[in-house]
Amino acid sequence: MSTEAAARIAEVYKEYAAHWFHGHSELYVRWADGVAGNRAILNLLASMPTAKQQPNLLFAAIRFLGSGDTEFEEAAAFIVQRWQQVRAVMLSHSTQTNEAGRCATLLPVFSMIAQQEQRPLALIEVGPSAGLCLLPDLYSYSYDGASPIGSGSPLLKCATSGNPPLPLSLPQLLWRAGVDLNPLDGTDPDTIRWLRALVWPGETSRLEQLDKALERLNDLKNGVIESAAGIPDLMTGDLNDRIASLVAAVPAGAVPVVFHSAVLAYLDPSARQRFATTVSGLDCHWVSNENFFMDLDGDTQQSSALGFFVLALNGVPLAHTGQHGAELHWMTQQAST
Ligand SMILES: C[S@@+](CC[C@H](N)C(=O)[O-])C[C@H]1O[C@@H](n2cnc3c(N)ncnc32)[C@H](O)[C@@H]1O
Repeated sequence: MSTEAAARIAEVYKEYAAHWFHGHSELYVRWADGVAGNRAILNLLASMPTAKQQPNLLFAAIRFLGSGDTEFEEAAAFIVQRWQQVRAVMLSHSTQTNEAGRCATLLPVFSMIAQQEQRPLALIEVGPSAGLCLLPDLYSYSYDGASPIGSGSPLLKCATSGNPPLPLSLPQLLWRAGVDLNPLDGTDPDTIRWLRALVWPGETSRLEQLDKALERLNDLKNGVIESAAGIPDLMTGDLNDRIASLVAAVPAGAVPVVFHSAVLAYLDPSARQRFATTVSGLDCHWVSNENFFMDLDGDTQQSSALGFFVLALNGVPLAHTGQHGAELHWMTQQAST
């Protein structure tokens, strides 16, 4: 295997250790740094398609297969000894992490739109995974430790700065739908096991949050709880192929809001550009929460706050957000992204 490929993959693992895992999962920092310095594992990864070489996928795969959250030497032995199984899980699964916590950073923007339009919202998520970010009305929120907004569960806690326009109540929702290359059934036991394996070791509150959000989805599907927006309708397809018809399907009286978080990084530049051009030409609002900022022409700019996403509305950057929704740093003016 080429030294060049191994070196490129090592750089990706080092970057994840330093910018994405650091401060969130120290075990994953050690695993990622360990892989970056382990030629045998780098060679195995180099034999995979590029999209399947990422740290989140490798680490979730071995935990899914029962590695446990051991120190790197043991994890490395697991990867090498059980490579055929690890490889099969990596090829058949993807990093469809579904993070309900991101609703805490999306909610202020949804509320801004509802206030401006004075109508209920129709949420359309592209890349929803199991659809947990389509259920903001079923959760409750506490910003900077203040009393909760909403009465649902889980309670999503978010620290803010820059004086964001925090909502006093939840915006009214009338409809919700999504399109994903592979929509997940959040009530299927094996899918739940995979979604849990995608939560980084040590992040116990994220895991509790995931379990509670999945419980809410289950309750909604079983009719234990009701919502005017109903059960999320998740269709299979490519976001570029389906977005226009989804916006056209929004019921009269509701404001179409297209949103996405942690999705566009999976698209190549031409697909991103096509999406930006399409969505900005549709009669809808567009909320983007990604690890880069994308303008109306589809040109991207890396987030200036490393390890943070950029939250944008209709092509205007508004805030830096914690990757899993626990932080919201409002930009006071047209700051750099
Ligand atoms: C990391 S998950 C994020 C899920 C969710 N948005 C969240 O924030 O919790 C990314 C999702 O995007 C989906 N995806 C990637 N490329 C897509 C495409 N071209 N069209 C539709 N969905 C796509 C993946 O299948 C996956 O479910």
